[in-house]
Amino acid sequence: MSNTYSGDKSIAKLVILQKYLWAYKRILDNNWEQDLWYVDTHAGNGVTELPDYRLNIAGSPIRALEYDFDAYYLYEIDSGHWQSLCDAIEERLGIELSFGTLDTGEEYAIRGSDPRILIHNMDSMDGVDWLIENGNSYKHWFTFVDPEGLNDLEWDLLRKLINRGNTDILYNFQTSGIVRNSTDGAEHAHQALEDAVGEDVPRNRSQDFYVQWFRENKIEPLDYHTASRKMTSRGSSNWRYDLIFASGNETAVNNVMEDIMQNEDTLRADVVEEIQETRERANDPQGAFDSRLRFEEHGSESEMSQSGLYEY
Ligand SMILES: C[S@@+](CC[C@H](N)C(=O)[O-])C[C@H]1O[C@@H](n2cnc3c(N)ncnc32)[C@H](O)[C@@H]1O
Repeated sequence: MSNTYSGDKSIAKLVILQKYLWAYKRILDNNWEQDLWYVDTHAGNGVTELPDYRLNIAGSPIRALEYDFDAYYLYEIDSGHWQSLCDAIEERLGIELSFGTLDTGEEYAIRGSDPRILIHNMDSMDGVDWLIENGNSYKHWFTFVDPEGLNDLEWDLLRKLINRGNTDILYNFQTSGIVRNSTDGAEHAHQALEDAVGEDVPRNRSQDFYVQWFRENKIEPLDYHTASRKMTSRGSSNWRYDLIFASGNETAVNNVMEDIMQNEDTLRADVVEEIQETRERANDPQGAFDSRLRFEEHGSESEMSQSGLYEY
């Protein structure tokens, strides 16, 4: 059962997204006059499935709706997922969306205002391209980039977002997937790996190496600042991802990081609370927690000096 407890990491990811959005909105609302847009490049179907609990919890776009952005642009390539996402948003907001088809043939759903919500059934690469070319460049974007695996992502998409400027990014970096697909034995996956993180990606390196390499060699040369946290779980040791925060504004990265990440106790309590609630809803028979989820600031790898959420 390799995915046992992988649900805990999904919950942690979503709780951190929410914490990030909360801190981010609070800081930007006080310092930024222009509109703030929420852009979700891999919006999903509105729920995150937790196979180990046999239930679903609200996904990223549904959570982001709580944070009062001026507009929401959501991209989902799978038409079944897109339809479910539209249903979930209608249900969450108690509204009826209007549906249409773009000249290029892709379907979309729209809510006109308060806030404006556009849900596109298309590849976010094309959607973001269009929005960069045609949207107002003064609008500030918070962009959540949450691919399922390497095949869902193109480095070109991240580069476009960074080059746009005025765009902060929370990126779910697929650390263990990258390591698995970088070995000499995984030659069939090397093209996907290069598409996902860049043609210059070295082979056969460690998980820590790839996170550091990606930050220092891909994002930071584009004059973006980064911070990251890693997530692993004892219940599924073959699984790791790192949340990378990237922004053109160093103070924003530091402030938001400080706000969310330095306060380990609150962060841990919030993740634990949602896991506990989820377990209760699922009637999970296991009772007390068993020290399985680790959540650390990248760079503090020693067992003794971990920071962040690592055991409960
Ligand atoms: C990990 S799930 C997203 C989960 C969602 N962010 C959440 O937290 O609730 C990844 C989703 O991205 C979609 N996807 C994959 N490639 C895409 C692309 N190029 N453009 C838009 N959506 C894509 C998949 O169909 C899948 O629904």
